[in-house]
Amino acid sequence: MHQLTFTRPDDWHLHLRDGTLMQAVLPDTVRQFARAIVMPNLKPPVTSTAQAQSYRTRIIAALPDIAKSGGTKFEPLMTLYLTDNTSAEEIKRAKQSGIVHAVKYYPAGATTNSDAGVTDIRKAYSALEEMQRCGMPLLVHGEVTDKNVDVFDRETVFIERVMIPLLRDLPQLRVVFEHITTRDAVQFVTGAPDHVAATITAHHLLYNRNAMFSGGLRPHYYCLPVLKREVHREALGKAVVGGNPKFFLGTDSAPHAQHTKETACGCAGCYTAHTAIELYAEAFEQLNALDKLEAFASFYGADYYHLPRNTGKITLNKENWRVPDSLPFGEHKLVPLRAGENVAWKIGG
Ligand code: NCD
Ligand code: ZN
Repeated sequence: MHQLTFTRPDDWHLHLRDGTLMQAVLPDTVRQFARAIVMPNLKPPVTSTAQAQSYRTRIIAALPDIAKSGGTKFEPLMTLYLTDNTSAEEIKRAKQSGIVHAVKYYPAGATTNSDAGVTDIRKAYSALEEMQRCGMPLLVHGEVTDKNVDVFDRETVFIERVMIPLLRDLPQLRVVFEHITTRDAVQFVTGAPDHVAATITAHHLLYNRNAMFSGGLRPHYYCLPVLKREVHREALGKAVVGGNPKFFLGTDSAPHAQHTKETACGCAGCYTAHTAIELYAEAFEQLNALDKLEAFASFYGADYYHLPRNTGKITLNKENWRVPDSLPFGEHKLVPLRAGENVAWKIGG
């Protein structure tokens, strides 16, 4: 197969940042995706509907001209950042706004900009009960923060300690287990009711943990949840090949300036938006499942969020091209995943 044309995809998990950094990365997403679920982990985080509204206005103002002039439309789908103090009233306001599509749960301290996250999920139960009532999805960063738990086991332990009790207490709560990385998470989501789904990144489909250590320490492959063993990568591949609508695309593209990753204590996050759909195409091709890419990238997420499927199309050509060593990022530089290496597919103009 040398060319693929399919329904324009959506990104159901994206970090856009703000200001000049957002301006730098937004065109990469808009070129490929019609909509994106925008993560709320700004500093300070987006905890209210009013803040989500103003963040949305800033994103729309920063959209490249092509999207503003109605050529290719892009719609940011906003989220709130759950804290110990999020109230049921705030959830009602979010639902009524029509622009907030989900609420993100970061265990406090689990990842980049998560200090204001939830210290104990039971503190958030009045907000979660309202979300269950009004059908607002909870997007979960599923890793325990217990320093005694091995970093490679934090997702699996989270299932036992948090996910299972949460769904026992709130059985109708709509939950997306974000950026799953393990066979355990695949099994858990597969066995859970239909309203429990998961996003899967391109980097977790393409790489196992060796990528972080091949010939030296490679900070641009460091993200959270961290890359896992090959058996887990294989389980993610099987999940997407199975065509189960519970599993859909979420890049978790997370830009960090080069100097904040190439340092003694580097930030977690891979910048994949630059080549996102092309990397997914590579992953699906390796799995002999290019015929499953459209539904994963363009149908299942929209269906889960009760939004219409996109009508526009994109075309990918089988064409090797070299990813730049770095990209401009405000006054800094941004090293995209695969920098200086080739990608096998290229999106058409
Ligand atoms: C994300 C970021 O940089 O905002 N980092 C990451 O490694 N994925 C936060 C997150 O989603 O965990
Ligand atoms: Zn993320």
